[in-house]
Amino acid sequence: MSTRPRVSARISAISESATLAVDAKAKAMKAAGRPVIGFGAGEPDFPTPDYIVEAAVEAARNPRFHKYTPASGLPELKQAIADKTRRDSGYAADASRVLVTNGGKQAVYQAFATLLDPGDEVLVVAPYWTTYPEAIKLAGGVQVDVVTDETTGYLASVEQLEAARTDRTKVLLFVSPSNPTGAVHSREQTEAIGRWAAGHGLWVVTDEIYEHLTYGGAEFTSIATAVPELGDRVVILNGVAKTYAMTGWRVGWLIGPSDVVKAATNLQSHATSNVSNVAQMAALAAVSGDLSAVARMREAFDRRRQTMVRMLNEIPGVFCPEPKGAFYAYPTIKELIGKELRGRRPQTSAELAELILEEAEVAVVPGEAFGTPGYFRLSYALGDDDLVEGVSRLGKLLAEAR
Ligand SMILES: Cc1ncc(COP(=O)(O)O)c(C=O)c1O
Repeated sequence: MSTRPRVSARISAISESATLAVDAKAKAMKAAGRPVIGFGAGEPDFPTPDYIVEAAVEAARNPRFHKYTPASGLPELKQAIADKTRRDSGYAADASRVLVTNGGKQAVYQAFATLLDPGDEVLVVAPYWTTYPEAIKLAGGVQVDVVTDETTGYLASVEQLEAARTDRTKVLLFVSPSNPTGAVHSREQTEAIGRWAAGHGLWVVTDEIYEHLTYGGAEFTSIATAVPELGDRVVILNGVAKTYAMTGWRVGWLIGPSDVVKAATNLQSHATSNVSNVAQMAALAAVSGDLSAVARMREAFDRRRQTMVRMLNEIPGVFCPEPKGAFYAYPTIKELIGKELRGRRPQTSAELAELILEEAEVAVVPGEAFGTPGYFRLSYALGDDDLVEGVSRLGKLLAEAR
């Protein structure tokens, strides 16, 4: 009998997506008839706009789209993405520098797989989205956390980044607006960080998937545009999921220098080939249309954001800085750890989240999933009534903590 492990060490080291796990548990409890309110989901609760769905229906009827198409994406979609990027962030890139991927997630994976050699270090601001560490690790890279907290609104300073830099640092990952914190860097902060990165010859991978979801006067700044000194050492990640309520369609993209895009396309040509043509044609309708659908969603998200933050800050032991973008609130609940609640004494935010799910039938994602225990992530991409009911239940339960 072989003593070799059945699953490779590389793949066994990947952990389950904690956000999807919380969502799955909440959905299972719901299916069993329990009135669970889920704050776990990272997706808009709106359907994809009709004109986008119609474009897909039309594409499905066209025999051209029943066949393989170029691995890097349909030429008309790549052009539309280049045009949209120029329109929305002022960044000029030729269509040949666009690679269309199966969702933003594949863009994340391929960006790190293409840039990193074993031992190369990546600066990642914590709290961070759960997928980045796995993508970095799979590429052989070493993640170096730059930990932020509620006192700075989860924004990292140049000094903190500099303290984490070594001669092995190759990439800075920049995510603004951020998942999970909703933090948005101002133009000045973005420029300062970009200039620092450029000054040290670092690559910047910028995840711009929440570019259109900012609130209360905060504005998205693309580091790629704001800091031309970065030159050809910048890779932009983006997708249609959050802007057009298209999480299930699986279309994202990567924009980078020609050599990186060429190499990433080679990888994709062996891994997945072209993204579903029907989904690409839906994405084409999305990115070449106007932004009225996202403007309507933004209005609803903004209202819910304000309600959620106000209600969270009324709960003793909870503090939530105002998120300025995306659709998540990231309160600290550190004061509640170790307190007695319904006969138990949770020692971690993961244990407290578990107790909340059982006792209040409310699903939140614990901060452990984002590299910072002691916090919860709550998505406000759910209906207003459910939001109020869910945070009220949370407040009532947590008020019992002694
Ligand atoms: C910061 C961030 N980047 C990228 C993605 C990828 O989205 P998708 O793969 O659905 O396009 C997500 C989704 O949650 C995200 O939060």
